[in-house]
Amino acid sequence: MCGIVGYIGNREALPILLKGLKRLEYRGYDSAGVALNNGGIKIFKCQGKVADLENHIGTQNASGSIGMGHTRWATHGVPNDINAHPHSSQKGHFTLIHNGIIENYAELKSKLQHRGYEFKSDTDTEVLVNLIEYIYLKGNITPEIAIRLALSKVEGAYGLVILCDKEPETIFAARKGSPLVIGVGDNEYFLASDATPIVEYTKSVIYLNDNDVAVIKKNELKLKNIKNDILTPKIQKLDLELGQIDKNGFDHFMLKEIYEQPKSILDTYRGRINTNSNELTLGGLYDILPKIEHARRIIIIGCGTSWHAGMVGEYLIEELARIPVEVEYASEFRYRNPILYKDDIVIAISQSGETADTLAAIKMAKEAGATVLGICNVVGSSIPRETDGGVYTHAGPEIGVASTKAFTAQVTVLTMIAILLGRRRKTVDDNLYSSLINGLLALPEKIEEVLKSNDIIKEVSSHFYEATNCLYLGRGYLFPVALEGALKLKEISYIHAEGYPAAEMKHGPIALIDEKMPVIVIATKDSSYDKVVSNIQEVKARKGIVLAIVTKGDTVIKNMADYVIEIPETPEQLSALLSVIPLQLLSYHIAIMRGCNVDQPRNLAKSVTVE
Ligand code: G6P
Repeated sequence: MCGIVGYIGNREALPILLKGLKRLEYRGYDSAGVALNNGGIKIFKCQGKVADLENHIGTQNASGSIGMGHTRWATHGVPNDINAHPHSSQKGHFTLIHNGIIENYAELKSKLQHRGYEFKSDTDTEVLVNLIEYIYLKGNITPEIAIRLALSKVEGAYGLVILCDKEPETIFAARKGSPLVIGVGDNEYFLASDATPIVEYTKSVIYLNDNDVAVIKKNELKLKNIKNDILTPKIQKLDLELGQIDKNGFDHFMLKEIYEQPKSILDTYRGRINTNSNELTLGGLYDILPKIEHARRIIIIGCGTSWHAGMVGEYLIEELARIPVEVEYASEFRYRNPILYKDDIVIAISQSGETADTLAAIKMAKEAGATVLGICNVVGSSIPRETDGGVYTHAGPEIGVASTKAFTAQVTVLTMIAILLGRRRKTVDDNLYSSLINGLLALPEKIEEVLKSNDIIKEVSSHFYEATNCLYLGRGYLFPVALEGALKLKEISYIHAEGYPAAEMKHGPIALIDEKMPVIVIATKDSSYDKVVSNIQEVKARKGIVLAIVTKGDTVIKNMADYVIEIPETPEQLSALLSVIPLQLLSYHIAIMRGCNVDQPRNLAKSVTVE
């Protein structure tokens, strides 16, 4: 949700800002802008992507060694040149970029209007920059004090970078709810929403905490909170390599990330499954395991794909560990006044670790006294810092907006948690334990095998790309896969798709089926296989077009379905991890055939830091 970058040092800022913004485009891409301070603040901004901004700047003089940049995902005001960031205050003393939402902007705006302020844009950000200026001029105080006082009046979330004409050698930054990382260089500092724009310049980073305000000169960093307490910056080593954030020869990040899954799954269980003894350990849960083991119930929260992973987690934990599990959309959970007990275990799942609704739900669960665990991908992000323990997925940076490798990594972690709990609770016997551990260890190779069907999947996609609707069906562990498959298709190809438990088809969706309706059935050989075969027959009887994902060697469904994609056999409890791969590829190819931008689908953003 909006990407922000900043630089202060001795180099030309513009190339650093533009390169950084391109890395952050996954966070939003409907307009972009930069501000440079070179004896006066100059702003360049326009609707469109960072490449459009580059064209817009063209050969104009945009030099300066202090600057900031923004790529926007619109919340207040349509994407256009005026609403693009940076925004300047009326008298031009402050210029600001913002990620987040100022919730009390309307009240603040009307107060400022009464005091003579006029607004050019429809954004909440312009309200904030004018509030800072108003407080600054009225109080005759330093810019830093004005910023802190203004922020104390603000409700909502922000990651901010601010320039002030009266302090041309300084860049200000502040965070509440929206992430901000500072890269520490040699007489230079970098700022960004995540570490990807920073990694090629320095590995020393400081993650800002909520209510932190940083006052940065090229050779000095002062960290305070908004109450003016002086804080000691905690410098951490960045565990990220430049190679991880390139496309590595793939046409799109999404495709690269689909193909990375044999490795990302291996990285998820690496060091956690001892390949000699088959013992499973999850260090981040070590102290809390006895509590989870005896939990009365577990509540899993997440949004989007992470919620789908949570559903697989529910089936896994209930089957293997026999602990009741509820799965909730974080956005519903946080507002519906749920019943929470002190002995509840809440597991928050989030790729980014920054999703606003998930973060708010965590805070609520903590206030109620529950134990909160995180399953996150981005190391050092907000959710792992808020939780009592957890497990990183270690899938590596996921840049494609449609989540792929993060999903399989989350499900891998949930599988390990379920097995571990089942082992401790003696609900998983030795045979099942070894079959699951061996199944996990064999997954990377099996995924490689599925990826070899890419050409077949591409060919099948050519029969579906003109569809206007699609139905995805699955039962048991494959029902969440149906939901995830449908979501992937909607997100990147804009084809309307629904995921359903196969048997529920009879209670509504069957009315939609005719000779134009593609039905994608995940029908691998598991305990519901026979029932799913009947569901396929019901679809065929109504002339629906069936694409079935089947277990290698299946002949029954092959004779019934219009198209089949085979995947290797795996224990039923691991079937989600394998069967989702062809669905990811199917969406990818369909989106490409429809001419869609798969890495930057319209209206979406990867990291949803606003509610
Ligand atoms: C956005 C992304 C999805 C993601 C969801 C939750 O909608 O586009 O891919 O599943 O947010 O994000 P999280 O980072 O919490 O997993």
